[in-house]
Amino acid sequence: MRRQLIAGNWKMHGSHQANAELLAGILAARPFACDLAVCVPYPYLSETAVALAGSDLRWGAQDCSAHEQGAYTGEVAVAMLAEFGCRYAIVGHSERRLYHAESDQLVADKAKAALAHGITPIVCVGETLAQRDAGQTDAVVKRQLSAVIHALGHCAGEMVVAYEPVWAIGTGKVATPQQAQAVHAVLRAQLRAAAANADSMKILYGGSMKPDNAATLLAQPDIDGGLIGGASLKAADFVAICRAAS
Ligand code: 13P
Repeated sequence: MRRQLIAGNWKMHGSHQANAELLAGILAARPFACDLAVCVPYPYLSETAVALAGSDLRWGAQDCSAHEQGAYTGEVAVAMLAEFGCRYAIVGHSERRLYHAESDQLVADKAKAALAHGITPIVCVGETLAQRDAGQTDAVVKRQLSAVIHALGHCAGEMVVAYEPVWAIGTGKVATPQQAQAVHAVLRAQLRAAAANADSMKILYGGSMKPDNAATLLAQPDIDGGLIGGASLKAADFVAICRAAS
């Protein structure tokens, strides 16, 4: 039995006051049966580390640079994230693939850089609606994951994978549990060919996961948690999803 992970992706939301209230609300609702994390905007890593110190809530970033250091204006190195105690870094989110033209190879390089500093990459894969309609879902997610598997080599088993159908992100259109499970099974099979511990690796679902649909999604055999956007910004909603996890 895999312990599930519920990770909040705050995206570009937050303020000192809103973050303090949100984190306090989550902390007050513990304990949970699952692992928990919040992935916050870079400027808030420091205060998040202070607020969550000594708790079992983990924190992470929403991206990282593929480079060690150097003249890369605006980028943030994994070594810096490690100094803030980051446990996770999301890489390859569809918003970064789309708005920042991130390629499969860049995503793979970022995942590798994260692992090199002991930070677990949460590697996002997912198809657009046009790709789904064209019957390309499996091919797209396999291609995206394959680049990362290839880059990580014998460390592939250390990543967390997140299946996030692009058409379900922020749209309120959630994948049905059957649709999500089918893709998770494809990803699990791909991981089995690459990592000896594939059956204990976590594959999260992301895309309009809310308190009212979390339980059925999380009950699927290959869904090992959630990557939560909008519903991670309200303590009550995030806590409700955490309670649905095991
Ligand atoms: P929503 O939960 O807002 O659909 O966002 C999902 C997501 O992109 C998490 O990374």
